Amino acid sequence: MSTAESVAQYTVVLCGDSTVGKTSLWCALQHLPIPESPSNTPVAGESVECEYRVCLSTGDWITLKVVDTGGAEKYQTFTLHRYRYGSCVVFVYAINNETSFTDIPKWVRESHRAGFLESGFASFLIGNKTDVDERSVFQSSQHALARQMQLTDSFETSAKYQPDQVRAVFDTIADMLHSRSKAVLGT
Ligand code: GTP
Repeated sequence: MSTAESVAQYTVVLCGDSTVGKTSLWCALQHLPIPESPSNTPVAGESVECEYRVCLSTGDWITLKVVDTGGAEKYQTFTLHRYRYGSCVVFVYAINNETSFTDIPKWVRESHRAGFLESGFASFLIGNKTDVDERSVFQSSQHALARQMQLTDSFETSAKYQPDQVRAVFDTIADMLHSRSKAVLGT
């Protein structure tokens, strides 16, 4: 890993229903083992952060501060408020859990209430657990919801079996955040 200084840092808050794999995505970014059973980490009311460094095609390094929100819905809402000056939200659902998908608009509304998604905040949608056979949400529905909710982009991952792909998705997110930020600042 390079020790070159990062030219920018962006905060990325993971949110979504319980057991969709938020902590697993967070672990994949850090090359940590994926929790075998629902992790319940971080504990309700807390959040945990890690730093994920990305080298852009320009050669610049940037840092994503990735925040895993845990626990019951009300605690995740508190966490969103705590990070309301952050850079972006990643809404996570599991492709074999339809409720976690139909709950996404609720999470988008929570983010609006917390002051995210205003002033050009980016937001992304991740459908996790693509390795499972029983898919109940198809990619066409994911794309339609992302358009309807005016999210910046959407992706699919398998945190459990394809951690490299998770890191590639967050590399893309980092690139998009940095490009947007440069466009806003006019640099
Ligand atoms: P809370 O902490 O309750 O908010 O859950 P969470 O969203 O952080 O989910 P977590 O990462 O704890 O994962 C829940 C369960 O799903 C665990 O048993 C993981 O092993 C499993 N899991 C996570 N990602 C995947 C995946 O990509 N595929 C499969 N098959 N299982 C996964």
